[in-house]
Amino acid sequence: MKFFIDTANLEQIKEAQDMGILDGVTTNPSLMAKEGITGTDNIMKHYVNICKLVDGDVSAEVISTDYEGMVREGEALADLHSQIVVKLPMIKDGVKACKYFSDKGIKTNMTLVFSAGQALLAAKAGATYVSPFIGRLDDISTDGLNLIAEIRMIYDNYGFDTEILAASVRHTMHVIDCAKLGADVMTGPLSSITGLLNHPLTDIGLEKFLADYKKGN
Ligand code: E4P
Repeated sequence: MKFFIDTANLEQIKEAQDMGILDGVTTNPSLMAKEGITGTDNIMKHYVNICKLVDGDVSAEVISTDYEGMVREGEALADLHSQIVVKLPMIKDGVKACKYFSDKGIKTNMTLVFSAGQALLAAKAGATYVSPFIGRLDDISTDGLNLIAEIRMIYDNYGFDTEILAASVRHTMHVIDCAKLGADVMTGPLSSITGLLNHPLTDIGLEKFLADYKKGN
């Protein structure tokens, strides 16, 4: 399972990268705005800075909603760095743009996916990644994890190569459950990654080992 971090915060990206377990980064316009990164030039520069920090794929989202705009923006984003994955919204023109980029060998991430049907379209368009938003489904009392299971079954039935990127992950149990269901990737906040470290028995055990070592030395 690949671990992506879902943020535009450079310190948090660095912290996850330094642990040696990070496989990539996802961003979106809201995450950029949260870090105070505004204006096309600054946003483009920030993507390059993120790429320099990590080894893996970095999803950069287009803001156009028409096919020509998405192609123009996506090409500019892909030109920024070899690690850039063009992130496209799950709308008709987004699917069309996904096919365009897939045919050109440029990696894509279909975002804002909330149904199995949308995931099927993303795979048909040759998306590298499909991003079902599990947390936002949970927010409206719909089982986000069930969507991951449905997509896994459909993709396995037909051998689609598109990777299931469980997005809108909010906490550690989402990570564990997505791993059980066979999601290829998860993207979540730093806390959903570092939270996996925590266990009181680890802390108690380590404290005891260190205390016993001190007794004999
Ligand atoms: C995915 O790529 C999105 O950036 C993200 O996971 C959305 O998460 P949220 O629902 O917590 O905003």
